[in-house]
Amino acid sequence: MNKNTLNWDIEYIRQDFPILQQSMSGAPLVYLDNASTTQKPKAVLNAMQSFYETSNANVHRGIYALSEQATALYEGARKLIKEFIHAKSTNEIIFVRGTTEAINLVAQTYGLSHFKQGDEVILTAMEHHANIVPWQILGQQLGIQLKVLPMDENGELKLDKLPELFNEKTKLLAMVHISNALGTINPAKKIIEMAHSHNVPVLLDGAQSILHGAINVQELDCDFFAFSGHKMYGPTGIGVLYAKEALLEKMPPYQGGGDMIRTVTFEKTEFNELPYKFEAGTPNIAGAIGLGAAVEYLSKLGLEAIRAYETQLLHYATERLNEINGLRIIGNAKHKAPVISFILKDIHPHDIGSIVDHSGVAIRAGHHCAMPVMQFFNVAATARVSFGIYNTFAEIDALIKALQHVQELFS
Ligand SMILES: Cc1ncc(COP(=O)(O)O)c(C=O)c1O
Repeated sequence: MNKNTLNWDIEYIRQDFPILQQSMSGAPLVYLDNASTTQKPKAVLNAMQSFYETSNANVHRGIYALSEQATALYEGARKLIKEFIHAKSTNEIIFVRGTTEAINLVAQTYGLSHFKQGDEVILTAMEHHANIVPWQILGQQLGIQLKVLPMDENGELKLDKLPELFNEKTKLLAMVHISNALGTINPAKKIIEMAHSHNVPVLLDGAQSILHGAINVQELDCDFFAFSGHKMYGPTGIGVLYAKEALLEKMPPYQGGGDMIRTVTFEKTEFNELPYKFEAGTPNIAGAIGLGAAVEYLSKLGLEAIRAYETQLLHYATERLNEINGLRIIGNAKHKAPVISFILKDIHPHDIGSIVDHSGVAIRAGHHCAMPVMQFFNVAATARVSFGIYNTFAEIDALIKALQHVQELFS
């Protein structure tokens, strides 16, 4: 296997991430939990610090210069994100806390106002809890039913089963674009086309897809797209709900309060225009600015180049992990993102995680907020490694060495 055959200046990129320069447990930190959250480049840290040092004021309110400056930065970030995902308009970019809040927003506004008892929502067998529980809560409120598109042993959706799930009661298909537990890249465009042929809108959970390749919401033609800043090298506490403007116009607000109104009397409130109708209260201004900086940073690196480099990491890691006796990869889809779940004989994944941590290797162990996926594969938990732009082939070698040590301890 050729290592880093691309023109990817890994040392240069790693310098951008101060956290990677430190040691853990006496060894260089090897951070392999990027599907959980990514580290932040200096560009993001500096943008946020600079905002607080030079431009901090509330947005959309003050008529003084400092507030105008803050507003320009906040709205500038919205424009960067609009361009990043190729939305038609900034009106379609709603700042939220993250993917979880974005999906809850859709359930509690679009769902609550458009669905009725007996209606159905289609999910897939590989959803994160963030795309299951909001629909169950709505189910308790309205009496809607959930239908689940099954997957096979490789962790690929059984697309041939999809047509039979649609009927006149189907109101939405909500699905994960890339599975955080299996790494499967789902054929979103094809599924969206099928759903639209039944007049069913589609919500894509883009928490994992936003950082592994270019997203074009117009080309995908998805109706809703949700993602989190912290998973794409941006800050925590900020994310985006993209929705087609025509849908947002028809949706009632999510929360009430300042900024989302035009006029208020004790009798009646007239709501603000898009996107502010969905952004009640003082927003996470610094978070949005940090996310804008992350978008600029990723755009400079190039999404295609990121995808190509991460694919090499995925192939190398898969090859090396398969060399370990007794290791079983859970999720062997043909199209995968750089996320690998595995089990090692009958060693509990938590033990694996704790032992490799002693060598400075940070991996995830657990159900990955996707308990139905664990139930399907009949495991309580898996260990998971997930790669980002700053990971190296040498780090994969360090992981393998640490796993060999786990094996020795349990043999
Ligand atoms: C596929 C998927 N959906 C949703 C989420 C929830 O994201 P957040 O916790 O940022 O809201 C995650 C986070 O791990 C995820 O991987």
